[in-house]
Amino acid sequence: MPIPKAELHLHIEGTLEPELAFALAARNGIELPYADTEELRKAYLFDDLQTFLNLYYSLMAVLRTEADFEELADAYLARAAEQGVRHAEIFFDPQAHTARGIPIGTVVEGLSRALDRSEERHGISTRLIMCFLRDQSADSALETLTAAEPHLHRIIGIGLDSAEVGHPPAKFRKVYEAAAARGLRLVAHAGEEGPPAYITEALDVLGVERIDHGLRCMEDPALVERLVRDRVPLTLCPLSNVRLRAIDVLEEHPLPQMLDAGLMCTVNSDDPAYFGGYVDDTFHAVREALGLDQERLRTLARNSFEAAFLDRDAADEAL
Ligand code: ADE
Ligand code: ZN
Repeated sequence: MPIPKAELHLHIEGTLEPELAFALAARNGIELPYADTEELRKAYLFDDLQTFLNLYYSLMAVLRTEADFEELADAYLARAAEQGVRHAEIFFDPQAHTARGIPIGTVVEGLSRALDRSEERHGISTRLIMCFLRDQSADSALETLTAAEPHLHRIIGIGLDSAEVGHPPAKFRKVYEAAAARGLRLVAHAGEEGPPAYITEALDVLGVERIDHGLRCMEDPALVERLVRDRVPLTLCPLSNVRLRAIDVLEEHPLPQMLDAGLMCTVNSDDPAYFGGYVDDTFHAVREALGLDQERLRTLARNSFEAAFLDRDAADEAL
């Protein structure tokens, strides 16, 4: 039995398995530039975040209707249930869809159809987090927040993702202020490929409550001290870090040192269709590669509920 856990760093578009990509392409009359699923999987050799993002955004072309988004989310939730996930906070990238002429309502309402049935069908409670693409302009992020206004009752918070280096958090100060004023929860990717200073900036300028990745905090001892003191959750994604070459091999992942330092670490899958594993696969992989014992795995699972945007009672019940 997989250990019960919450998944807090999961891009729904990153759960698009080659089989579903081909099925949706056929349904929508779209030709993919790959002969078959095998050939597509072979394209999953990334040198860095940008190489991955190029494929990730281009494959999204197959997602067009509410039913497509519903099927994508339902397929993820079915797999997540098998992996012991009891609560999932799911990212989506509205700008990657609106840029292709898909209205934000199609995305949110399609995903919500699956999310609304998730507790009953899969035993997983869910939340939706809308991410802004940091390599697009700050104005585009603000326009996206405005476009999302009719759907905000379905969205618990905002995040920041895509190409990190050269796009520091402060660029998005205004949209984070506007989101906070609307009562939205705040997270951001920081310290994945970008420097530790981006983590500090996400905390100080954007006021985020969790850091997505945060791997590179280990380069700044004062920052580590602060993250430990304030119990700032880090949503780590070890398989992603290896596939995107943030680290060379899983055996060198600093997760054990991060736990030793007292950091509030969680383990997540990021884009599981691309990175070779869902969240329990990731728990297994870190146990094997890093020799984490059962107690440490339980700590990671406990942290995931504590760091979730659940009220205390719901988090305690899930544990
Ligand atoms: N979008 C999807 N996965 C991402 C990641 N790991 N980092 C930044 N943006 C992303
Ligand atoms: Zn991510």
